[in-house]
Amino acid sequence: MTESAPIDPTATDAWKQLTGIASGFAPDLRGWFASDADRAETYTFPAGDLTVDLSKNLVTEEILAQLLELAKDAGVAERYQAMISGEHINVTEDRAVLHTALRRPAPGTEAAAQLDPAAGFVVDGADIDAEVHATLEKVYAFADRVRDGSWTGVTGKRIETVVNIGIGGSDLGPVMVYEALKPYVQEGLEARFVSNIDPSDIYEKTAGLDPETTLFIVASKTFGTLETLTNARLARQWLWERLGASGAISDDDEARTAAVAKHFVAVSTALDKVAAFGIDPENAFGFWDWVGGRYSVDSAIGTSLAIAIGPDGFRDFLAGFHALDEHMRTTPLERNVPVLMGLLNVWYTNFLDAQSHVVLPYAQYLHRFPAYLQQLTMESNGKSVRWDGTPVVTDTGEVFWGEPGTNGQHAFYQLIHQGTRLIPADFIAVANPAHPLKDETGDGKAVTPGADVHSLFLANFFAQTKALAFGKTADEVRAEGTAESVVPARVFSGNRPTTSILAPALTPSVVGQLIALYEHIVFTEGTIWGIDSFDQWGVELGKQLALEIAPAVDGDAAALASQDSSTKALIAKYLSLRTN
Ligand code: F6P
Repeated sequence: MTESAPIDPTATDAWKQLTGIASGFAPDLRGWFASDADRAETYTFPAGDLTVDLSKNLVTEEILAQLLELAKDAGVAERYQAMISGEHINVTEDRAVLHTALRRPAPGTEAAAQLDPAAGFVVDGADIDAEVHATLEKVYAFADRVRDGSWTGVTGKRIETVVNIGIGGSDLGPVMVYEALKPYVQEGLEARFVSNIDPSDIYEKTAGLDPETTLFIVASKTFGTLETLTNARLARQWLWERLGASGAISDDDEARTAAVAKHFVAVSTALDKVAAFGIDPENAFGFWDWVGGRYSVDSAIGTSLAIAIGPDGFRDFLAGFHALDEHMRTTPLERNVPVLMGLLNVWYTNFLDAQSHVVLPYAQYLHRFPAYLQQLTMESNGKSVRWDGTPVVTDTGEVFWGEPGTNGQHAFYQLIHQGTRLIPADFIAVANPAHPLKDETGDGKAVTPGADVHSLFLANFFAQTKALAFGKTADEVRAEGTAESVVPARVFSGNRPTTSILAPALTPSVVGQLIALYEHIVFTEGTIWGIDSFDQWGVELGKQLALEIAPAVDGDAAALASQDSSTKALIAKYLSLRTN
């Protein structure tokens, strides 16, 4: 079934009301908190293990009521139900969108009994639960063999390094989660991630590796991505050369095939192409065209993670996603955290003219989370046409960016605090650090001996959202004895919106919950805007042109001559500079 035409959100009464509120809007977080002792409580919601405080957003009861009306008018809850039921809401590719099915509990378990449908989840003639869990079991069995050393390289040595070769969704999710869950990685195992076709990437990532203990996972949904296939060939070449040079294998096809069989596995929806590359389909893990690349870290694309953190860790990771899926499915819109966060983003983007959104994890292990979210949010919602092919009627897709705190504080927070742009910010922290270190000596001033460093860290998390919300008035600056001439430079306007997300610890489950939270925020915004958040036609033109231009860059005069004057001159310059 395809989708009905999207509504025009700008034609709704809610939109008109919000437009009215936004004109001359004078947010007053100081006043709102002063006059409402319950504001923090009113706007703080649980979602799985996450506590989400929305109270420092530029929102009032009236605004929220209208945003919720908008969500109802756009049918957010109904479309979510359609999505998880397997309707083809990816209309431009005529596909179901079923990443939520990747984390449905195994059939027959207690958790599965709560599901809708509890059993027999058939979409387009396929038993989805059965297929998903059969693949997961295959991934888990393989992961166990690598972890316990029963899967060895061609010379019989156990695997010590797993190198994931993929790009976009076949890289960003695995690398982000690997970094996030480092404390859960089995001792003696390491994962590395090669994505860029820049040869420096694979050169650096294979540097120092022992080919006899290295396993490559070629992760590509399509198995047709130039970067990934090029890197996979370079990896195979590296393996053959190194094994051959040390005399570990002989220089013949049979030995080379045997080496690939033990050192290469693949993850793809295109198992025929996997076989054509020389990887035994027995050593390939499948997934389905109903999973978008950027939604696939919880599929076999996460095989490097299942190896690193183990099947139990991966199950916990999936359970975290599922907890948020159930929150999204069953929680009324008024308390539904991803819906509320998505609606606030619409409020800032479409009514208060925000152009970007910053995500600031106060957790060093989440240092790749903003990069991960860039693909999730911008590849999903960076669209100018709606799912029926008509132009969008309002702005879409904010620019997502960020860095971990406190590093960002010493770099770009200046602009967030005192710049001219409105930048809504999500602050993320965990209560229990992986390494609860104490500063035994302190500094004799602010930091007392024995200070808990994580608390010191989180003091920044709490301080930043406070400073952004409440600012500092000129009178407060003067009261500190500041010279009048510099008072204006030291004033903080406040009323800079933040959301605080607090989790107990950075467990596999919590990482899954955080990812699903943002997936559903993206969904909510996409539904309001009427766009298909699950295709990515915008990346195709560049790929196509790169292939067309490649002969010119390689010195083909006729191909060079057919380029526009700027491209021609740039390539000519490149060729004249190239010396090696
Ligand atoms: O560049 C776009 C894209 O299609 C992403 O959506 C995807 O995650 C990435 O390329 C990699 O694709 P594949 O997994 O098919 O190699």
